[in-house]
Parts: sequence; structure tokens; C-alpha cells
Amino acid sequence: GMLLPVVNAAANEPRAAGAELDPAGIAKFTQRMPLAPVLQPYLTTSTTSYYRMTLKEASKEVVPGLTTKLRTFNGSFPGPVIKAESGRRVVVKQTNALDVPTSIHLHGAHVPQDSDGSPMDLIAAKGGSKTYTYPNTQPHANLWFHDHAHHMESENVFRGMTGTYILTDDTERRLGLPSGSYDIPVSLRDARFTDTGELVYEMGDFRHRNVILANGKAWPYFEVAARKYRLRFTNTANQRFFGLSLADGSEIVQIGTDGGLLSAPYRTDTVSISPGERADVVIDFSRYPVGTTIELRNKHVDRDEPANEIGAVLQFRVTRSARDDSVVPTQLRTLPPLPTATVDRSIDMRMDETGAPSSMAYINGKTYDMNRIDTEIAYGATEIWTVHNANQYAPHNFHMHLVQFRVLERNGQAVTEGPETGLKDTVPLKPGETVKIQATFTGYRGTYVYHCHLFDHGAMGMMANMRIS
Ligand code: C2O
Ligand code: CU
Repeated sequence: GMLLPVVNAAANEPRAAGAELDPAGIAKFTQRMPLAPVLQPYLTTSTTSYYRMTLKEASKEVVPGLTTKLRTFNGSFPGPVIKAESGRRVVVKQTNALDVPTSIHLHGAHVPQDSDGSPMDLIAAKGGSKTYTYPNTQPHANLWFHDHAHHMESENVFRGMTGTYILTDDTERRLGLPSGSYDIPVSLRDARFTDTGELVYEMGDFRHRNVILANGKAWPYFEVAARKYRLRFTNTANQRFFGLSLADGSEIVQIGTDGGLLSAPYRTDTVSISPGERADVVIDFSRYPVGTTIELRNKHVDRDEPANEIGAVLQFRVTRSARDDSVVPTQLRTLPPLPTATVDRSIDMRMDETGAPSSMAYINGKTYDMNRIDTEIAYGATEIWTVHNANQYAPHNFHMHLVQFRVLERNGQAVTEGPETGLKDTVPLKPGETVKIQATFTGYRGTYVYHCHLFDHGAMGMMANMRIS
């Protein structure tokens, strides 16, 4: 069977008032999957687009017939989409009207330390604000933003604080991929509710988050035309891995990953994304007659999970025909060459697997200390990091701020095909697995974090500081 996080079993008893909502009782494919609202700049100059957002509570219908209180960007759930261009700066003023502190991190972005949204760089609760500047000096990529406040990120994200940031450039635009209303960002996650619709957050919870949300709705449907669509998936779940496939096993063409397009399309029947990862895919619905419904399934279901619930994601309904001038070229981009590495490091990821509520998580034997520098990096250096999951049951993944890295090897085998040949900022590690990654630390000096992107693990201490100087 698939291996999924089994942690803090003892801490997972529901504590919220009201009974637990039974996911099996939620009607599937009755709500339309909404599109995240595209945020408009309030000011545009020749170099810069200026945005503002307010972090605030909002109530939404996530499960049909129930209302859920959320922590949101601008009252949106799913969070808004920012559309940015390489070479044009984006400035975002975030005002925090929540009663908890936040820090807003742009995941996958190459940004100066003071705009990185690091765990220690908080926006005060009840009226604090901070302006983030994103230079967008990197090529096109599917980025996303989320809360990163130290020890709070897991709960803040669980309660809704995520959004999408699509960075495009000429390389990408020239290709003729499906665009406009055929280019759809989809945020996938899980959740857990009371029978009155309130979210139930328990640190380390995994077993009870059995409701699957696509763009903020439980098991929605999405109407498509019988033509090609580009779907940009982001896994915004705290801990859940997805293995996405169409119910009939037909082809999905993966064109991109965390850091933008692959060099060439990768044809597969299953697209895997761990928390924080992105998969950019094209699905050709012209193979289905108008009137067909086709489910997007999740193959990553553990044997003691409710297969009907965890195995379902969303339903596509082919409702009309449409003209299709889009193409998926056989070559998508040229990936940057790999410079020679001069430094090797080892990173060991481990957490307590005893199930005790006080479980801790470690990188190289240490839990996170915001005042400790764990890794000193020379500005401009190219390094190879050998990252190992030392756990027996718990999967992890490894995310670095500031850089897009390359995956050289997985378990001693060179990575030569598939999505891991692209630019990555997050890489999954099953129990016992080892990956070798390579990164070059240029652009900005400063202190940035690296961590497990299973938010609960990060909040339990599986995080460290690197200083580039
Ligand atoms: Cu998406 Cu440090 O995080
Ligand atoms: Cu982890």
C-alpha cells in the first residue's frame, strides 16, 4: 500500500464542539468548481504592478449546505490569483485583520530576504501590515503564496491562507499552449469538518482530514469543452499526497512542474504532487463525446483510508464542443545548464514516530531554532545536497526557499525522465528514500529557511536556516 503520514495518533481525537462530519455523507459532484478570482493591481507603472490584500475571516460554503469560517486573502477561498510577468516587478501590501500574526511567503520565488515571508518576519495581528516586493527576475513558473508564521503556518494554511501566483514570460507565451478560459489553476487539498461545517484543526492530524477540496469546494464538478485544457495543479494540503489520474486511465500530458515548463512534455497516466508541489498538465477532452463525465481520481490512498472519499477528487463534465487551436509542442524550453558543484552536504529528515502528542521533528537531529544558522553558504556557490528521509513510516518532502534546484538522483538512480527533470523547489521523500539535489545560490544574500513542506512537520520543528553570504 501507499505510505502516508501516521503521526500523533493519540493527539488526533476531535476536540471541537459538535460531532464530526462524516465525509461519506457529503454529496459528491454537486457543486461547481469555482475559479479563483484574478486580483487586479490598484496601480500599474512602466515597471511595477501594485496590489493590496487584506487577510481576514470569511465564511463560505465548502461542503454543500454548510457554512465554514475561514482565514482568507481578501475573503476569497480559494485565495486570489496574481498574474505576473518576468521582468516586471510586483508589489503587494498585505494588511492583517486576523487575530493571529501571519507572514506571507511566495513559494518558489527568487526574492530578497525581506520579502521572502520567513517564519520570523511577522505581520502583527489586528491591523499590522507589510509590503512585499517581488522582482520577478526568474523565468515563468507556477508559484503560490501562503502563511508561514512560525508554529502558526500549519493551522493558518489549513484554515485557508493560500493563493496562486502565475509568473509568465515570452518563452512560455510563444508556445501556443491552451490559454485564456482553457488555462485553469486548481488548488487541491484535504480538510476535516464538524457536522456544523466548522474546520477541525489538530496538529499532526492526518487520518481525519478525509474531505477533498478542489478550488475550495468539496468534490466539485467542472464543465469542460471537448478540447485541450491546461490545468495547473497546486497541492495546498498540509500533509496529503495526491496521485492524480483519470478514471479511465487515459493519458495526461505533464508539461511543467514547480519551476515552470519541462524541457519536453511527459505523457503519463498518473501525476504525483506532494504538499507544496505543482503539476502543470494538459488534458485533451476531445477524446470524449459531449455528455461524458469523467472523474479525476486520487490513486494515493492508504489501505485503511475511506477509498470512496480519498480516491475521488473532482468530476469533469464534457458539455460542449469547441474550436481548439492550441498545441503542445514536442520541445517546451531549454533548461539552464548545470554548473559544477563545489560543496556537498547531507540532510537527514526525521520525526518521532511514537505517536506521542509531544512529537518533535528534526533536520540533522535538531528542531528549528530561528536564531540558529544551520548552514553557511558562500554567495554564488553551487552545491549538492543529499537529502535522506530517515523515518520508517512517515513520508516527508524537502523545500528550499530562494532557489529552484535540480534533482540529480533518487535512491542512487540518475533522474533522466519525467517531472523531476524540471526545475524544482520541493521534492518528495518516501520513508527511507534519498535524493541528491543541486542548487546555485545567487541573486540575494541573507537568511532563508529550508524545511519539510508537510506543514505539520515544519511546525513540529522540521525546518532549518541557511545563510548565504
Ligand atoms: Cu511553501 Cu517555506 O514554504
Ligand atoms: Cu515531513
